[in-house]
Amino acid sequence: MFEVLPQLPADPILGLSTAFKADTNPNKIDLGVGVYKDEQGHTPILSSVAKAQTILLEKEDSKTYITPQGVQGYIDGMLQLMLGKNNPVLLADRVAAVQAPGGCGALRILAELIKRCDDTLTVWVSDPTWANHIPLIGNAGLKIETYPYFDKDSASIKFDAMIDCLKQVKKGDVVLLHGCCHNPTGADLTKDQWQVVLETAQQTGFIPFVDVAYQGFGDGLEEDAYGMRLMVNNLPEVVIAASCSKNFGLYRERVGIAVMVTENSTARKAIQTQIQAIARGIYSMPPSYGGALVDIILNDDTLRAQWMAEVEAMRTRMHDLRGLLVSKLNEYGAQKDFEFIKQQKGMFSFLCITPEQVQAVRDQHSVYFVGSSRVNIAGISQANVDTLAKALVSVL
Ligand code: LMR
Repeated sequence: MFEVLPQLPADPILGLSTAFKADTNPNKIDLGVGVYKDEQGHTPILSSVAKAQTILLEKEDSKTYITPQGVQGYIDGMLQLMLGKNNPVLLADRVAAVQAPGGCGALRILAELIKRCDDTLTVWVSDPTWANHIPLIGNAGLKIETYPYFDKDSASIKFDAMIDCLKQVKKGDVVLLHGCCHNPTGADLTKDQWQVVLETAQQTGFIPFVDVAYQGFGDGLEEDAYGMRLMVNNLPEVVIAASCSKNFGLYRERVGIAVMVTENSTARKAIQTQIQAIARGIYSMPPSYGGALVDIILNDDTLRAQWMAEVEAMRTRMHDLRGLLVSKLNEYGAQKDFEFIKQQKGMFSFLCITPEQVQAVRDQHSVYFVGSSRVNIAGISQANVDTLAKALVSVL
């Protein structure tokens, strides 16, 4: 039976790592997959995570199953981090949540839940959006459409066109919004723009689906929650997928959370059983380990403070690298104005160059990044920034 299926091309993001590893150029540069890297190009285990691992090793005394819902201390800690302590929606018992295998797992089971509610609705995603949003949501059987978001020519958000489009969506449709650090463009909504999105949701009755994969990497842990909290505090229903891959550096442990803000406690109880049944029907229960580490960190004042300082250090380093790249591009004579890179937030920027230029810089200089011109800012270092800037200028 297998002969009916063709071989597929490499994944547009993960495939870059394979190509990079195979490249023998000693000066090759990897700005592909979104993982944080230090000055040495290493993705470290955070000190707070290492400490939590030691604590967990000492205290864990069984490997029996956890529940489809996941580790309760993890869920409570994450909800407070995301929504803020004592958020009225938490006190009103309006929030259903399950630990999920990564942000991807959360996106997928939420897509399944949305489909159970109404399999005729459309999920609207930004143009462009993270490449894997499409299969994660589409493979659940939901229809996907795009709303205008980013203009490559002016390197800025097409906000008027975005809102004009969102005003036309059907009541009950779902609109996927990036909570912060938009992937792939790095272009985030301002507070005023979030307000307009909220008012549009109130007028048209669409349901926001907020993806929060980079909390703490934009302006700070609290600041990056602004848009998500604005939606949650002012709308009856909101769906949220969050990930601990980046801000806890727990990539391979697959730690995420699926959150559903419901209209009331009765709906919360029903939706909690539905999402647990969906998890049970796909993977039964999430892996315990990463969630147990986050539980330890978020529920211990000292470790939590240590973790927050580590997130801040990652955030500041990426912010500074943006400035460094722009100054080096200018130094080596770039004709294009790259100042916009400094305004963008988080781990990614769109360089706003053509796919041909992206390919040329890969072929001629072994610099790897996504064909859309998305670069992982964390892959830049003092050691490689001159090579990188010269390579980019040479293909412009
Ligand atoms: C990315 O966007 O590079 C990361 O989120 C990794 C992935 O799974 O694509």
